[in-house]
Amino acid sequence: MTAHLPSALLKDDAPVKLIDPARHRLWPILETEEKQAVERVLSRGVLSGNFAPEALALQEEFSEYVGAKYALLTHSGTSALILALAAAGIGPGDEVIVPAYTFVATAQAVLSVGATPVFADVDPRTGLIDEQEVVRWLSPRTKAIMPVHVHGCPFDIDALKKLADARGLILLEDAAQAHGATYRGKPVGALAAGGGFSFQSSKNLGAGEGGIYVTGELERAELANQVRNFGHDLSLAEGRLNDLRRPLDGWRSLNSQRLGSMYRGNEMMAALARSLLKKLPARTRAAQENAARLSARLAKLPGVLPPHVPEDRTTVHHKYRVRIDRKAAGLEEFSATVVRDALLSALKATGFEATLWERAPQTHHKIFSEAKNLPESVLENYKARFPKTEELLDGSFLLFTQSCPLIAQDAETVDAYASAFERFWEHRRAIVLSAAKAG
Ligand SMILES: Cc1ncc(COP(=O)(O)O)c(C=O)c1O
Repeated sequence: MTAHLPSALLKDDAPVKLIDPARHRLWPILETEEKQAVERVLSRGVLSGNFAPEALALQEEFSEYVGAKYALLTHSGTSALILALAAAGIGPGDEVIVPAYTFVATAQAVLSVGATPVFADVDPRTGLIDEQEVVRWLSPRTKAIMPVHVHGCPFDIDALKKLADARGLILLEDAAQAHGATYRGKPVGALAAGGGFSFQSSKNLGAGEGGIYVTGELERAELANQVRNFGHDLSLAEGRLNDLRRPLDGWRSLNSQRLGSMYRGNEMMAALARSLLKKLPARTRAAQENAARLSARLAKLPGVLPPHVPEDRTTVHHKYRVRIDRKAAGLEEFSATVVRDALLSALKATGFEATLWERAPQTHHKIFSEAKNLPESVLENYKARFPKTEELLDGSFLLFTQSCPLIAQDAETVDAYASAFERFWEHRRAIVLSAAKAG
């Protein structure tokens, strides 16, 4: 995507830098404490294990953070979701409704337990699953709904719980992006039958790769623990008998009971995550305050719609999506994608961190668009349009990127963004005209 800038944003043929790229802070931010945490593991020499000390401590600390009774460390957010699904008894022949707007891991987790994902359209203001669209795609095979707290903004848990209860379905939470977000005053993740968080590097708590499954029910935690250990007949209590001086030795022969795999986390990641978890509340608060100030200023610009957050929730702004109202912006004669692409490339050229992330409803993935041998209603779902997801994606972009996310920036940089964006916006028509002319 080349930027076609109007002359007002060019100086000696080079783009004017409205924001100095050098002022961005890269993510993840790793400090002395994180280095010490990893060193602690190396000195101890226990690198892995279900019941290894860092894993156990992280599980305790994270369950307290999200108000869950049980937390189980996994090697990725995807494996945490697999545990959530498997522990809820989801398997072959079952359908699970997930949003059309998410990262593919949500649907891949469903496929991994042998079940079938079915997609529902989202609210174009938030990207959160639309309850009516869930109802539209229910079938006799639907067993669960797994919406996503996308960008770190909670979905309407009470509404979906009510729907799930009325239809005898299980509600799960994809909380991969939402560490510390709250719904009606409570942290998300453990507000339904089970949830999964990701510790992949880009996340607000990014410890390399990793994840954690949380639930309030012992029976599900026990099942999940077996699934993350090759389906072995382990129990959570028994593992504590492990001899930490000889962590690699087994103490009895194990018997595989069910489909499982090796989904455990490792000690260096757990130690890193523990250190980052201590810093997460302050970082989240700062990101929320910065986002609030930025949003207040962007909202004053004609046609700029900062992230919409329903009043009963807090978001953690894992991603910061800006929507464009073309009519209010005076850009109505251009198509949504012409406007979006012209603005995005001009933003990048003038120094902003901006990107698209997902570009289309999840069904664009070949695994769905070319799927065969599935029930008619599922094939219909994979061929369907998701107009509200398209509306959202065609008419918006992300300010800040995974390498330089909002949470990594200081207040001065975020204020500089607001000022720079105000200047940028004065040139919006010239930017889009210039790009449209260039074709
Ligand atoms: C919404 C969503 N679900 C699931 C995942 C999977 O997490 P991981 O990459 O840790 O497997 C991610 C992130 O990658 C995500 O953004």
